[in-house]
Amino acid sequence: MKAIHITKSGGPEVLQMKETPRPKPQKSQVLIKVKAAGVNRSDVVTRKNTNTYGKNSEETIIPGLEVSGEIIEIGETVTDKKIGDKVCALIASGGYAEYVAVESSHCLPIPEGISLTDAAAIPETVFTVWFNVFKLGKLQPDEKLLIHGGTSGIGTMGLQMAKALGSTIYTTVGTDKKVDFLNKMNLGKVINYKKEAFEDVFKGEKIDVILDMVGGDYTQKNLEILNKKGRLININGMKSNDVNINLRTIMSKNLILTGSFLKPQSAEIKTEIAEEVEKNIWPLFNSKKIQPVIYKTFPLAQASEAHQLMESSEHIGKILLTMD
Ligand SMILES: NC(=O)c1ccc[n+]([C@@H]2O[C@H](COP(=O)([O-])OP(=O)(O)OC[C@H]3O[C@@H](n4cnc5c(N)ncnc54)[C@H](OP(=O)(O)O)[C@@H]3O)[C@@H](O)[C@H]2O)c1
Repeated sequence: MKAIHITKSGGPEVLQMKETPRPKPQKSQVLIKVKAAGVNRSDVVTRKNTNTYGKNSEETIIPGLEVSGEIIEIGETVTDKKIGDKVCALIASGGYAEYVAVESSHCLPIPEGISLTDAAAIPETVFTVWFNVFKLGKLQPDEKLLIHGGTSGIGTMGLQMAKALGSTIYTTVGTDKKVDFLNKMNLGKVINYKKEAFEDVFKGEKIDVILDMVGGDYTQKNLEILNKKGRLININGMKSNDVNINLRTIMSKNLILTGSFLKPQSAEIKTEIAEEVEKNIWPLFNSKKIQPVIYKTFPLAQASEAHQLMESSEHIGKILLTMD
């Protein structure tokens, strides 16, 4: 099969198409003929940090954390899926390829009204937001949520999910074009953080939960605008992972500071998230209350262009690779 490999650590040019053996599904897995793969910021980080020293070319990494496609083979213990099912799936790696083997319990049906290609934009964002905002952060329908990076793949999905489930939403973005886009989608109070300081604008709002991927000096500012018993959840530290905080801010308001990485979670936790999102979030897709926001689709062979676009941060929503 054809697959994009990270041939060594470096810029987008290290992503190269190579012929690779087709994976074989293990007992509890299915083999998906991939229609499309989502591109995630995490793939860019993996590409920059991959250490291939001393490894042969077959061991190079195929990036990609989510796909959509058709099941063409099932493992011997799989009973919940069948050949021919169209699914989208969360995977640990290997999505930039024509075929991928994945745990059957990490596959979900294509929501009604969403194309097979567009469904590739769903798993990573929905699983991450569900796990962090709703499980760790315990966001309630009458609470207020701030998501930084509102036009990221995570932001565009997380804001829609929280709004559809009854929360009041706030967000920050880096350009006026992004502000306009989110305003057109009616996604809560949006500010351009390059023009206004979010910690001033949102100071009086008493935000209950903040989902942050920026870190650095945002952390103390986030803690300061949280309501009593507020929760700050970090899923990245794009500015910096090293932060200075004042513990008094946490102690005086009984705050919780937490965070997670989705990729290294156990298969059992991912299965639990899959069951919960199918129950709680899939009906929101089916009733058209939420939808993936797709910015641009590239053919698989242009994976390096897709990474360049992601690193420009110009995009609004998701970037996809298709196998057509
Ligand atoms: N922990 C986990 O399990 C997990 C899972 C998925 C994603 N994530 C993280 O969540 C974030 C969003 O992921 P994504 O795939 O949706 O990314 P994405 O679409 O590329 O969005 C990232 C956005 O963050 C904003 N940003 C703010 N500060 C930035 C900075 N210092 N450097 C670069 N961008 C900055 C940019 O928009 P502006 O122009 O508005 O600044 C950019 O568009 C990423 O940091 C990713 O690593 C974590």
